[in-house]
Amino acid sequence: MAVIFSGIQPSGELTLGNYLGALRNFLEYQDTDECYYCIVNQHAITVPQDPKELFQNTRNLAALYLAVGLDPKKVTLFVQSEVPEHVKLGWIMQSISYVGELERMTQYKDKAQKRGESVPTALLTYPPLMAADILLYGTNYVPVGNDQKQHMELTRILAERFNRLFGETFVVPDIKIGEGGARVMSLQEPTKKMSKSDENQNATIRLLDAPDVIVKKLKRAQTDSDNCVRYDKENKPGISNLMGIYRAITKDSYEKIEEMYSGKGYGAFKGDIADLLVDTLKPIQDHYNELINSPELLDSILDEGAAKAHAKASEMYRKVELAMGLCRR
Ligand code: TYM
Repeated sequence: MAVIFSGIQPSGELTLGNYLGALRNFLEYQDTDECYYCIVNQHAITVPQDPKELFQNTRNLAALYLAVGLDPKKVTLFVQSEVPEHVKLGWIMQSISYVGELERMTQYKDKAQKRGESVPTALLTYPPLMAADILLYGTNYVPVGNDQKQHMELTRILAERFNRLFGETFVVPDIKIGEGGARVMSLQEPTKKMSKSDENQNATIRLLDAPDVIVKKLKRAQTDSDNCVRYDKENKPGISNLMGIYRAITKDSYEKIEEMYSGKGYGAFKGDIADLLVDTLKPIQDHYNELINSPELLDSILDEGAAKAHAKASEMYRKVELAMGLCRR
């Protein structure tokens, strides 16, 4: 039985990218493996958050984890800030990370650029905390989207570095990138990743978008003008992104999609994707609405999750303190 860990930031309403790239893949492991799924609220505060929104987004994300089909009897679902070993080990991971390697992270560079003069230090030390999240549980596999590759490589480097410096302690984890949907792009600027924080509402499909909103956003999705459904990421990024979304849901190959829509044009294709998305998201949205109206149930699941996660994490943290001499006995 492998140990699986992954996390999502409660930093806004989740997108189709979060679902296809991560959330839906979490389900694959729940019947066979020991799974820890975390709401990483301490990562969210690496950029400014409104406290009320962060509070609400944390609960919403818990409901969404469950709404996609994660079973709290099978997986441990918890909030990062409720298990103090995450920041404790995060600090230790910082002590073995080099500023240079953190400055090279592309997500840091992108986010720091947007903040001009006031770059929070935690934006730089985000990856050591992510490494701590993963390493605390003896994780074997981390299901994430493509954009987390660099952070995962650093996690492996830090695990190996710690083991070399202080003796064999951590399992060196592997990344698991799903087959389709590993990188869903913006509907408005298809060379850019679809992101929770995009200010252009038409750029992202949100998991809780109403059917008419999904139809409208797809109609407005940027495409080229040759009206031919053909996969060519370089020259036709917009239509290729839509084909990627279609393929991620139906598992049809690009060749098959091209055949199906040969001579039909973009209008028909966009209409069919909208239908497909509405059908995929409707059951999740219905389940979500039930859960969000059951606050006691959510609280009891998160309380139990935090207790289970804490029990496991504190064992590993103790080993780390002993290995480093950070203790009296
Ligand atoms: P976050 O909250 O940005 O994204 C959560 C997950 O969604 C994936 N994802 C995407 N996949 C495909 N296409 C997209 N457009 C897209 N946008 C986001 C992300 O790859 C991720 O899997 N650093 C993480 C949070 C984290 C974490 C961890 C993950 C903190 N600690 C430990 C795994 C293990 C992040 O920013 O996720």
